[in-house]
Amino acid sequence: MPQVHSFPTITELSHEAATLLVEAAWEAVTDRGRFLVAFSGGNTPRPLYELLASEQWAHRIPWQQTHVFWADERCVPPEHAASNYRLVRETLLTRVQVPPTQVHRIRGEQEPQRAAREYEARLQRVLGPHASLDLVLLGMGADGHTASLFPGTAALRERRRWVVANHVPALGAWRITLTYPAINSARQVVFMVAGPDKADMLARALADPPWPVSQVPAAGVRPVSGRLTWLVDEAAALPASMGGPRVTH
Ligand code: 6PG
Repeated sequence: MPQVHSFPTITELSHEAATLLVEAAWEAVTDRGRFLVAFSGGNTPRPLYELLASEQWAHRIPWQQTHVFWADERCVPPEHAASNYRLVRETLLTRVQVPPTQVHRIRGEQEPQRAAREYEARLQRVLGPHASLDLVLLGMGADGHTASLFPGTAALRERRRWVVANHVPALGAWRITLTYPAINSARQVVFMVAGPDKADMLARALADPPWPVSQVPAAGVRPVSGRLTWLVDEAAALPASMGGPRVTH
């Protein structure tokens, strides 16, 4: 069963996400000597990245032992305003000490199939056999997509590869994304979801029995043995009496 926690505002939600990251990082570094994290793009995690970069928080994560990956990327160069790499770099990575060789960006400027293959190879090289990401941070769109797993797209059916190029007709664009096999093998997955436009989809993503992933891709995130936590704001969390998810405040 996923844990679902609701917070009055994105500020409290971001504090909780930061706390989960710190705990996961130290557990990973203590047990395995390094912390393997995948970040997402979008607006929701921006305050989290800024918080982690702040003077109060920057020293709480063992950045020297951290490897930074991305859950997905847009097919744009790294300096582009839409680049997920750029978002994390500008808000966080320029302010904390992650060794450059431990920053594993998706090369969105390359031909999408090639970018996916190269990123998958890098991910597997760094992880090695039988390893998993320690924490994957995800958002969810109002259409139910997560990472770049969009409704009705081919990447939803991928059962073997960890990274694919995914054409998204609704956007008229390619994206590079982690697949369910990669996400669901993680030790921990944390969703951050905020805003009233997400309420319907959040209820569907958490519904039991689950909605088909072709319609609600976020519902396909079910770590095989890892922890799944949804951090949501009150605007996204409908009361259970209205058919919304059961949440703890
Ligand atoms: C991206 C993401 C994507 C995001 C959702 C939610 O590249 O945009 O990785 O999956 O998490 O679209 O985005 P918001 O946080 O902006 O609502």
